[in-house]
Amino acid sequence: MADLRTRYLGLELRAPLVASSSPLTGTMDGLKRLEGAGAGAVVLPSLFEEDLAEEAREVDALLATGATGAEAQAGYGAGAAAYLALVEQAKASLSIPVIASLNGVSRGGWVRHAARLEQAGADALELNIYYVSSSPGQSGSEVEWRYLDIVHAVRQAAGVPLAVKLSPYFSSVTNMAGQLVEAGANGLVLFNRFYQPDLDVETLEVVPSLELSTSAELRLPLRWIAILHGRHRISLAASTGIHSGEDVIKALLAGADVAMMTSALLRHGPDHLSQVEARLADWLDRHGYESLDQVRGRLSQRSVRDPAAFERANYLKVLAGHRARPTDGPS
Ligand SMILES: Cc1cc2nc3c(=O)[nH]c(=O)nc-3n(C[C@H](O)[C@H](O)[C@H](O)COP(=O)(O)O)c2cc1C
Repeated sequence: MADLRTRYLGLELRAPLVASSSPLTGTMDGLKRLEGAGAGAVVLPSLFEEDLAEEAREVDALLATGATGAEAQAGYGAGAAAYLALVEQAKASLSIPVIASLNGVSRGGWVRHAARLEQAGADALELNIYYVSSSPGQSGSEVEWRYLDIVHAVRQAAGVPLAVKLSPYFSSVTNMAGQLVEAGANGLVLFNRFYQPDLDVETLEVVPSLELSTSAELRLPLRWIAILHGRHRISLAASTGIHSGEDVIKALLAGADVAMMTSALLRHGPDHLSQVEARLADWLDRHGYESLDQVRGRLSQRSVRDPAAFERANYLKVLAGHRARPTDGPS
């Protein structure tokens, strides 16, 4: 039986399967089920900048009315306090690493919560910067600077390992990855999945829309993990489109340290993890691999015979191949 142990963000994981941030990781029941099914680590749902800012406003309002310290304490922090309690409980009850998540778009007081999460016992932090710029006056480098500024601020606030959950929409993901490492990131989660609003053609309204991913979406993280593997001293997590054991194997071959799952676990339940692990273990045994280090990065850009396969040349081949298919066209 192959050894599935994995290092991620300097932490020792029993397997490379991580439950990413979702409502499943937001309750002790969900967390225990995920651990029981074989999760190597869990990422808690995010603590949002908006919630923390709202709490700060409530404190100010209470203090302005002359409320006592006790009342101010109660008014402030329902969200943050509950979150810290979850971190503490998860640490007390689970034996796998617990990664807390912060989600924000600007440098501000909320960043200091990184220190509180560390004090509550979080083994690492994941920082999700979900920023959508719609301002024509804001350049790409200004957007990048905003990301780096936040990472730098969180790095200053806390000493635990820090992963940044990144958007795929950068002009140069590779350059951005290097800058994030310099700003203090120890790991990258590729990628954050942006939820795109939909339009209701009857009510003529913009409606929020959340659909779970499919395996086809793994291609985007797969390409960038393959390109980034071995370029920086940094952990890489594949996120978006990991549904099956085969998807996990692909992520490892590209060079990911861990594969993260949310949609598959929401769809099939936490026990799905054990089936994914069994498929991974079976594949490793059939191919004679004893550890994940023998697999990781075997198909990264640096390892394959045709590195251009991950770049533009692949595009031409795919188009040419498609045109030649005899089954296409009117029948
Ligand atoms: C219902 C739901 C809630 C989520 N909440 C968070 C969150 O709080 N913070 C975060 O960083 N990502 C959150 N995500 C994103 C997931 O962690 C994950 O990155 C995304 O679903 C892509 O992975 P998947 O293809 O395995 O689903 C959420 C996803 C879903 C479906």
